[in-house]
Amino acid sequence: MTKITFTTFDGTPIPVEAEDGEVLMRVGKRCEIPGILGECGGTCSCGSCHVYVDEAWRDRLKPPHELEQMMIDSLFTKQDNSRLTCMIVVSPELDGLVLHMPNPNL
Ligand code: FES
Repeated sequence: MTKITFTTFDGTPIPVEAEDGEVLMRVGKRCEIPGILGECGGTCSCGSCHVYVDEAWRDRLKPPHELEQMMIDSLFTKQDNSRLTCMIVVSPELDGLVLHMPNPNL
């Protein structure tokens, strides 16, 4: 199991355990993380699984591919550390990953 922490917009950490090979968006939905909706089912076409990668982890993830980056670029709340959790597969290298949720009111 790989430990991932989702941090709500108000700063509350929600630690979860994920199976290796599980898509991070599915982890968020299974654990009922507020703001992880996955409305397109993980086809990189809705942006409702958007998170910010903690600065300490930013250089440790593979960069987004072109389709993911295009979707991120369309989001009003995008930042340089934005990622879509439907495009990230859990692996042991992600153990300890910290993610932050965007402002739900934007
Ligand atoms: S679930 Fe739709 S873009 Fe990730």
